[in-house]
Formats: sequence, structure tokens, C-alpha cells
Amino acid sequence: MMRQDVYGVDSSKKKQVPRFVIRHSDKFVNAETVLDIGAGHGRFLEWFLKYTNVRKYIAVEPWQPFVSRLRKIVSKYSNRKAEVVIINKPWQDVRDVLLREVYDVIVAWDVFMFMDLRDIWKLEDYQACVANEICELVKHCRWLLLSFQRSKYGLPGLRDFEDFKTIVSLANKLCRLDIVDKFSCLNYLIRGKA
Ligand SMILES: C[S@@+](CC[C@H](N)C(=O)[O-])C[C@H]1O[C@@H](n2cnc3c(N)ncnc32)[C@H](O)[C@@H]1O
Repeated sequence: MMRQDVYGVDSSKKKQVPRFVIRHSDKFVNAETVLDIGAGHGRFLEWFLKYTNVRKYIAVEPWQPFVSRLRKIVSKYSNRKAEVVIINKPWQDVRDVLLREVYDVIVAWDVFMFMDLRDIWKLEDYQACVANEICELVKHCRWLLLSFQRSKYGLPGLRDFEDFKTIVSLANKLCRLDIVDKFSCLNYLIRGKA
């Protein structure tokens, strides 16, 4: 099966961390370990380095131009004692190793629409794959920051509001998500089971 990932899509106009996240900063300020899946241009990395006591931050990003930006952010905050690991690979290639650990926070923000997880889950349906992946992530963190974004580049079934509603409802059936806050059917703060 040919993987259909879409790298480098960054339609998030706002470079700041979303308000939805900032509203919950009390839950993240003492987070020690963060796993950021599809870290993009690094707005979450910068925010965690600037405003929290994070000690280990793992950023997974397959697109080289974004990796360079992530490295710039790391050098800007080199006085921070945090260890930052940038992995220039798609999530699918490193997830089995990275999910041997648990994290205080996992960030999966505006990324699942571009990620082909069919090989991982041995399922044809993209929505079912993402739902299964969400349930897996929840087992490995205390907090999951999950977001979807409407995008014409999204994989089939991963493009629009109705798709996102279906995915979350599927995940809920699979593993009963503890959704602490949500904005529309796009942004979710989910309590992890770790
Ligand atoms: C819309 S951007 C979001 C970036 C970041 N999460 C944010 O909210 O600022 C989507 C990101 O997912 C990355 N991406 C796409 N497929 C991926 C994959 N298979 N594994 C990891 N990241 C992926 C893209 O390269 C891009 O950086």
C-alpha cells in the first residue's frame, strides 16, 4: 500500500499557540515531558520552552524546512535546561519506539488530516485509523491536545467538520474519551489514561 502522507501543509495562519491551549496552561506549566506529533513551524515548541518547566520535548516533523525552523527555536532558548529532540521523520516510522514511553502532554494539533495510518492499523478506512490512533495516544499521556483543521489537502474522510465529528465519536466508542474541553468539533483537550 502506498502511503499518502501530505508533508509541509501549514494552513494555520496564526503563528501563536491557540487560545484554546493557553486557556488550559495551568495543566501544562509543570509538564516535564511533551511529545509533539507534526510539530510544524514550532509554535508549540516555543510556547512550552518559554512558559513551562518542560524538561524533555520530542518534536516529530517529516518536512525539512520546518525542521530547520524548529532547530532555530531550540537555539533561541539554548539557555533553557530542557532537552529537545527533533526527529525528522514521519510519525508512522517512529511511533512504536516513542510509544514505549508515557508523556505528560501529547500534542497532535492539526496533523491527523495529512497522515496515512492504514499500514499501522491494517484498516482501509482513514477515519477508523485516526480513531484507533487517538485511543492509542490517550494510553500514553496525561493530557492529549488534539485538533483537526479543515483542509482541501486532507486525506479522504479527513477533510471537513462531519469527518472530525465521526472520528471523535468512533474513538469514543472504542475507548471512551475523557474530553475535558472542546471547541467546536475541531479542538479537544482530552485527559489521558497514563
Ligand atoms: C497544519 S501543520 C500543523 C503544525 C503544528 N502541529 C501546529 O499546529 O502548528 C501539519 C504538520 O503535520 C506534518 N505532518 C504531515 N504528515 C505527517 C506525518 N506522517 N508525521 C508527522 N507529521 C506529519 C506536516 O509536515 C506539518 O508540519
